[in-house]
Amino acid sequence: MDLANIAARLVADEKGLLAIDESNGTCNRRFADIGIEQTEESRRRWRELIVTTPEIGKSISGMILYDETMHQATAGGIPFGQVLVNAGILVGIKVDTGVKPLAGFPGDSITEGLDGLRLRLQDYAAIGASFAKWRAVFSAGDSMPSTACIAANAHALARYAALCQEAGLVPIVEPELLMEGDHDMETCGRLSRSILEAVFAQLSANKVLLEGMILKPNMVLPGTACREQPTVGQVADATLKCLLRAVPAAVPGIAFLSGGQSPELACARLNDMNAPFRSRMPWPLAFSYARAIQQPALALWAGQEDNIGLAQASLLHRARCNHAARRGEYDPSTDSPR
Ligand code: 13P
Repeated sequence: MDLANIAARLVADEKGLLAIDESNGTCNRRFADIGIEQTEESRRRWRELIVTTPEIGKSISGMILYDETMHQATAGGIPFGQVLVNAGILVGIKVDTGVKPLAGFPGDSITEGLDGLRLRLQDYAAIGASFAKWRAVFSAGDSMPSTACIAANAHALARYAALCQEAGLVPIVEPELLMEGDHDMETCGRLSRSILEAVFAQLSANKVLLEGMILKPNMVLPGTACREQPTVGQVADATLKCLLRAVPAAVPGIAFLSGGQSPELACARLNDMNAPFRSRMPWPLAFSYARAIQQPALALWAGQEDNIGLAQASLLHRARCNHAARRGEYDPSTDSPR
């Protein structure tokens, strides 16, 4: 499959992506919060539960794995990548190696992982990956993110994307402005637009084929500590306005991250952007959620074998709600916190 075909498949049929690519440290933190043992075997059992959820491929086009998961298998010995391929789900892989403080700019970060990336991408492609992910992180604050931080991360995203395309993998380009802080929605919109403009300038300068990538942005939201919290419709309006100004129409799809929004809000806001009364957007608006799909299921599972069915039902429910949101058909009144 060529790059444009893979990218088109990732956002086809109103489906979206499920990110299960938490690093071991992040996954362990989520386990610790609910008292699950933090071992390689626990992480394997949790990922087995997710990838073997019956029917999930009807709402999920691709799953993003972490390196450890890519090399793990079910208790019956089937590699997780193979389980996904058998279910008609494309296999993605997170290839950045993490977020570090940016030297000289306290509070700003830089995502690492370019060294040796060409060879790692070739290895992942050889074991079944069709797409990859790299996350750049920005904080809103006093003179943050700095111009240097935006430039460095935009350049790294573009170099990663070019290397992915050389290896035949579709890059998911993820610039995330974090929700933490007391900034208002207007500030988030202004900063998100500057970040996206810098990213697309670098993608263009590095000859990245826009038709062969997916953008994974944050929605335009006020900081979690901001006193004024907007309606679902206001978030949808602000997000679309920002994206229309900064994202070229040649991009085949936009798949939002959830960023710490509740599962219900992440779904309702996506739904509003896809509501039938809106004029058509240049790109499909999809989802690439981790927490907003996994979190209720993780709490239900709690590491117990007996809870696998309940947890899989919850995952399937959230995947279906977001699938409905892509059609503008999500009904919050029939949704439950689980
Ligand atoms: P959240 O949906 O939990 O923000 O995660 C998305 C993701 O893949 C972060 O890189």
